Amino acid sequence: MEPLIKVEDLHKIYNPGENEVRALDGISLEIQKGEFVAIIGHSGSGKSTLMNMLGCLDIPTSGNYFLNGKDVSRLSDNALSEIRNKEIGFIFQGFNLVANLDAVGNVELPLIYRGLGKQKRRRIAVQALKKVGLGTRMKHKPNELSGGQQQRVAVARAIAAQPPIILADEPTGNLDSKSTKEIMNILKALHTGGRTVIIITHDDEIASQVHRVIRIIDGRIEDDYLNEEREDTHYVF
Ligand SMILES: Nc1ncnc2c1ncn2[C@@H]1O[C@H](COP(=O)(O)OP(=O)(O)OP(=O)(O)O)[C@@H](O)[C@H]1O
Ligand SMILES: [Mg+2]
Repeated sequence: MEPLIKVEDLHKIYNPGENEVRALDGISLEIQKGEFVAIIGHSGSGKSTLMNMLGCLDIPTSGNYFLNGKDVSRLSDNALSEIRNKEIGFIFQGFNLVANLDAVGNVELPLIYRGLGKQKRRRIAVQALKKVGLGTRMKHKPNELSGGQQQRVAVARAIAAQPPIILADEPTGNLDSKSTKEIMNILKALHTGGRTVIIITHDDEIASQVHRVIRIIDGRIEDDYLNEEREDTHYVF
């Protein structure tokens, strides 16, 4: 079967010339549909840079990226944003919610770009918030929610349009241990429900909870191994 993600000799060089930074220095990897992967590495190892490439937020300096068999390494900004919209749900360390929109409004945002009508958007957003256990917080603005709840809104936003790929960059980096567990349980359930879930982390404890771990050092893959199967959770997607 064709891999969902296929990356060949990816390089990303910031500031080419004297002060250049080789943030990615020849990354090659394949990720199959339905995998649950952690990309782990120290600060500055190139994790977010790799996430930006995998998430079609940026293009590489050189190398190829095939998503669903399609070469997306040299597309225009518009073409990339179309692919992002259809294929990928993003979760970030800092939640990235819009401060003056309530939870439902935040989850509805990406659905607007998908061209869905108002009623349908609302219905899907409410459903997604219920799935992450926020049925009673629909009208709360981000500053009226705990960090863990804000991240669950962000997860609802990422999954509302049912993208096949979930990309999370340090999703639990700003959370306490209880909220971390909740978010990890949701990500595990998304994986069990058939999504491809990729988590970027510097935390070995997080990496121990996924199926496959890719360790990067200085923009190169240092290790790529499988964890044992883990128990599933009460969330259902
Ligand atoms: N826009 C940029 N311009 C120049 N250098 C950059 C840029 N973005 C990242 N870098 C450099 O590229 C390297 C990789 O950065 P990246 O953000 O991918 O690391 P990271 O693994 O995500 O780190 P962290 O765990 O701290 O988030 C770092 O040395 C960083 O300084
Ligand atoms: Mg980073």
